[in-house]
Amino acid sequence: MSKGRIFSAMQPSGRFHLGNYMGALENWVKLQNEYECFFSIADLHALTSAYADTSQLPDNVYNLMLDWLSAGLDPDKNVIFIQSHVKEHAELHLLLSMMTPLSWLERVPTYKDKLQNLGSQGKDINTYGFLGYPELMTADIVLYKAGWVPVGEDQQPHLELAREIVRRFNLMYKPVFVEPQGLMSQAAVLPGIDGRKMSKSYGNTIPFAAGPDELRERVRMIVTDPKRIKKTDKGNPDVCVAFKFHQLFNKEEVGQIEQDCRGGCIGCVACKKKLAEKMVTIMADMHVRRQEYVGKTDLMRDILEAGAKKARVVAAETMAEVKEAMHLV
Ligand code: TRP
Repeated sequence: MSKGRIFSAMQPSGRFHLGNYMGALENWVKLQNEYECFFSIADLHALTSAYADTSQLPDNVYNLMLDWLSAGLDPDKNVIFIQSHVKEHAELHLLLSMMTPLSWLERVPTYKDKLQNLGSQGKDINTYGFLGYPELMTADIVLYKAGWVPVGEDQQPHLELAREIVRRFNLMYKPVFVEPQGLMSQAAVLPGIDGRKMSKSYGNTIPFAAGPDELRERVRMIVTDPKRIKKTDKGNPDVCVAFKFHQLFNKEEVGQIEQDCRGGCIGCVACKKKLAEKMVTIMADMHVRRQEYVGKTDLMRDILEAGAKKARVVAAETMAEVKEAMHLV
């Protein structure tokens, strides 16, 4: 029994880390059992900012697909495909762009932010395509008439825009589209190993693809209470990044660890060793699945082609309705 249809996507940016997993993918893996899901690798979205050098795109798509499969996204339960393989995304984006007021796009809060941030990183995103980023997201979602979109807080303004475009289209032509709703997860935010937001640009990530050894190594580098010199010093878990990780990954032991830390009964090295072993165990199934898929490019291509085929059927039906509504017959 399905609770409805979901659409979501991720950009293949080649930076998938454990924070991204906890923030979104972990939730998708749960949702696949309750909803009819369309999950897309948004390569066209990647082009809106990384258009100048596209040589890494195939690798990034491959790696993201590997991340999804290792996380447990099941190709038999979901429609998994590459955005650009279903040309209706581009077609609908164009048609919607005709009736979207420029001011709606210019006032999206992420637009001006990113224009500044990416501009300062030397990327010129004063482009038509970048302005249309949320327009393309709208096309992605409404093409499948998805009622639900699992996205993070940062994407909420984009969903709001999608709803406005849907309302405008439905009134102006015919009620073809469904207004999508955000599906917020209560995912906790995983900090980086230095306590700041986990981000590739800070060099503080734990890569989602990390095997047991790399995982142990990254956990060993997690920042702890800086005031603690000797392991018999009384620690303060409230300022310890490793403790935050224990709270997320080691619910069974976290109470004892807090007590031992405050009492000066466990050192930071031992405490992080416990954490590392716990995380290695939690990630074990995912690492096994990764090994099953790694290098199997033919298999992955087959999955993505089968997904695109299914997606095209739905997309073509919607496009026929859109064209009829707009008298493009
Ligand atoms: N912009 C989203 C992100 O960076 C990815 C995305 C593209 C998306 N199209 C979408 C998300 C449609 C939800 C729905 O995370």
